[in-house]
Amino acid sequence: MRNHTRQAAMKKHVIAIYPGSFDPLTNGHLDLIHRGAKLFDELVIAILDNPDKDPLFTPRERREMVEAMTAHYDNVRVERFDGLLVEFAKKVSANVIVRGIRAISDYEYELQMALMNHKLYPQMDTVFMPSAEAYSYVSSRLVKGIARLGGPVHGFVPAMVEERLHRKLNGSSRRSAASNGKRTPSTTEGEAKPKRKATRTRK
Ligand code: PNS
Repeated sequence: MRNHTRQAAMKKHVIAIYPGSFDPLTNGHLDLIHRGAKLFDELVIAILDNPDKDPLFTPRERREMVEAMTAHYDNVRVERFDGLLVEFAKKVSANVIVRGIRAISDYEYELQMALMNHKLYPQMDTVFMPSAEAYSYVSSRLVKGIARLGGPVHGFVPAMVEERLHRKLNGSSRRSAASNGKRTPSTTEGEAKPKRKATRTRK
């Protein structure tokens, strides 16, 4: 067998999971999904179903939004999980976890989680991907905070999420009056998270 043929035959099928609360999905998340889908054979977006986190959107709503925004990827699917992430990883035969890093402040908490997950399931490793610069300050938590106060979230989240946010928070389906059609910094797809202390759960 020629070298490249043997290499192709031996190529592993890599399934990665991209876990998170996705409450709600941001353009920073979408950017990471886009890049992850190119890197891995399969990417499973794993939405945490944990009522203790007191999410704004139900797991079903979060899943609907993520599914709608990722339906065009052949190798991406969306699942909900509860309990330990490593158990979910085993269930879907994944051995890579993808996590976005927005800033150094994300790193300590993410490193701790990556090491613990590896300890719990040594066949699994975490791949950190830097968030797109344009979304390095965007987080679900900040987006919710802005939306709650009637501020503009356009450009930080997909239009569908913007709509759902306003519907959920104001009971109206129109876009935030505060956005007034103005575009905030970036409009491509992806996620990001705020600076936070290493010991805190990132959001
Ligand atoms: O987007 P988030 O909220 O920062 O995601 C956090 C998430 C879902 C990755 C993390 O809370 C998690 O993995 N929860 C599952 C429970 C678990 O496995 N805990 C042990 C982690 S070392």
